[in-house]
Order: sequence, then structure tokens, then C-alpha cells
Amino acid sequence: MPDAHILGIESSCDETAAAVVRSGEEIVSNVVFSQIATHQPYGGVVPELASREHLRAIVPVVRKALADAGQTYESIDALAVTQGPGLAGALLVGISYAKALAFALEKPLIAVNHLEGHIHAVLLEERQKGNHEISFPLLALVVSGGHTHLYLAEQKGAGWSYENIGHTRDDAAGEAFDKVAKLLGFGYPGGPVIDQVAAHGNGTAVKFPPSQIKHADRRDRGQKENSDRPRFDFSYSGIKTAVLRYVETHHLQASIETRRNAVSAIAKPKIEDWLAVSDQETLDLVASFQTAMVEDLVSKTLAAARALDVATLFVTGGVAANTALRQRFERDATMEGLPALFPSRPLSTDNAAMIAAAAYPKFLARDFADMEFSAEAGMALR
Ligand code: KG4
Ligand code: ZN
Repeated sequence: MPDAHILGIESSCDETAAAVVRSGEEIVSNVVFSQIATHQPYGGVVPELASREHLRAIVPVVRKALADAGQTYESIDALAVTQGPGLAGALLVGISYAKALAFALEKPLIAVNHLEGHIHAVLLEERQKGNHEISFPLLALVVSGGHTHLYLAEQKGAGWSYENIGHTRDDAAGEAFDKVAKLLGFGYPGGPVIDQVAAHGNGTAVKFPPSQIKHADRRDRGQKENSDRPRFDFSYSGIKTAVLRYVETHHLQASIETRRNAVSAIAKPKIEDWLAVSDQETLDLVASFQTAMVEDLVSKTLAAARALDVATLFVTGGVAANTALRQRFERDATMEGLPALFPSRPLSTDNAAMIAAAAYPKFLARDFADMEFSAEAGMALR
């Protein structure tokens, strides 16, 4: 099979991204335009602004990805685009542009599930390192701002099939990081700031009760297939409320306001800026929150890995960039003899290389999208 260069396009949330990947195994170019600066004043992603920014960025981002790769519109073999899940308006920008390009260039177009993209980011990382041997069955934790999902993956022809065996009942883990950071005056998005700040606090100072899931999930009704399988669901709205309660009972509001005001004047605050406006009690609270999140994610994922007797563990998505989470997974999974694999940090958060990589098995299977397909905001992975 000759090399195939696939141009991937990703616009599901607040990153406009394009990349060229060779045969699902080598990143030839990878361009990510982040909209963080646009959404920062609002403390979260504003869907209408996201669509507008994608419209502005998509053409230059794709051009740059081609130029960086030494490719042209004519020389690429296929296009791939994220179909969902994500923000409908944001997805439509990438899809409409990819369709127009594919039509004009008479090239095949491949529709990719964003979550499969995150999973393939790990595979791409391993292939780049020369590791072509992945043992199945495989458990993948996709942990990001929008998702906390556990998938059992098996090989199916050239591609993979997936079964969801756990998801969050309320907030995604990244959402909890972002909401707690916002609540404590650490800006947006908060995950990367908490990662750095937590290293300066005592992670055992504040005890948070483990999350409890008492009721069956109504969304699971009607899922007949393998309904006897145990589920490994997550819940993170409780810990967010517990942090809020701690702030109230320990009268931290004034120091939070001081931090917000002090840092609002700095365009890109660095770790030293955050530390300069944080007392030890706050640092301990942040570190303890992170400890509780890591403990919950790792213990549930490893419980699922044991119950399903999987051979490999993938941890991917924005929160997989978290230092403490990586260390804890590496230590605990290794103790159980389970290889735990992560993407590099740039491949953990949203990017288009993972979309081009996930498209490769579909390219081989000639599983091309017709021009009628549209964005699927709540797209499931199967
Ligand atoms: O995968 P991603 O870029 O976008 C989604 O598909 O959601 O993930 C973004 C999420 C945000 O919630 C962000 O705060 C979180 O990932 N995140 C982190 C870290 N880096 C990004 N959370 C904890 N520690 C990090 N180092
Ligand atoms: Zn994502």
C-alpha cells in the first residue's frame, strides 16, 4: 500500500485545527489555532463566538497545515473532518469547508468521531515511537472538557469497534477542573493552572468524600446489548459543590476576589503570578481537589480494567495532560502489569492530527462520507 497523506480538519469546540498525517503513523504537520483569548472574558466557551472564530481561522489554518507539510490541495490523498460530538455550529464550519474542498478537488472525504480521534491520538503517538504492537482488548479513558468516557475497544477489520462501559452522570472531569478554577479565581481554562498550582500545595490537607452513584442511569435504559456488564460511571458535580462549601466555611471569598483583580491585569499569567496571589490554604485546597479527581479517575478506570481483564490502557483527552494523573496512572497500572499509554501533551488536547490518524483505517476500508452527512452534536462512539 503506497503512503496516504490525509488532511484532517477539526472544529468541534474552541480550537480550529488542521494537520497532515502520513498513513496514520507520522505527523507531517499539525496546526492548532486556539480561541482561548476570545472566550476567556466569559469564563467558558461561547458557542456563537466559537463558530465565528472558526470561520475566520479555517482557511489560513488549513493553508498553513498544507504548507508546513510541503503538500498542496492537489497532492493530498483524502480529507477527514470531525462530524461530532461537539458544538453544532462549530462542527458545521469544518464540515462545510471540508465538503467544499473534497467536492472541488474530487478527493474522498472521511467523517470522524471526535472521541475516536482522541483514542487514535494514543495510537498515533505509539506509531511515531515505532510501536506497532497494541494488545486487545483495550480500555480507553477519554477525559476532557466535554467527556469522561470509558470505552472497551476491539479490533474490527482495519478499524476498531467500541463499547461504552462508563460515562459521567453530570460534569465532565475537565469541566470540574475548569469550574473549580473559576470559582477559586484561577481563570479559564483552569485545568492547566490547577496542574501547576497543585504542585505547591498539600494534596492530603482537605478530605473530599468519594463520589457516590446511587441510581441506575436513565440514559442506559434500552441498551440491551451486554446489559449484564457492570458499569463504571463517574460524577463530578458533588466535588465542585464541596469546594464551594469549603470556600464559604473558611471565608476565602475576599482572597479569591483579590486574586481575580490582581491577575486580571496580566495578559498571560505565569505560575509565579498565581503563586504570588495564593496563600497556603488555597494551594492546599487546589492540591486536595486534584488528588480527589485523580484518585477517582484512576481507581474507577483500573477497576474497569480488572473487571474486563483488558490488555492495554489508553488515557487521552485534555485532562490526560495532567501531570499528577499521568504519574498516578503510570505507577498504579504498572503495578498491575497493565501498559498505560498516553498521547504527548500537544496530542492530548484537541488537534486535527488525531482526526487524520483515526481516518486512516476508514481510508483503507474505503469508508467514505457522502455529501449529505451533517454535524452530529451528540454523536455516540460505537
Ligand atoms: O480535549 P480538550 O482540548 O477539549 C475537549 O474535547 O473538551 O480538553 C480540554 C479540557 C479543559 O477542561 C482543560 O481545563 C483540561 O482539558 N485540561 C487539563 C489540563 N490541560 C487541559 N486538565 C487538567 N490538567 C491539565 N494539565
Ligand atoms: Zn476533545
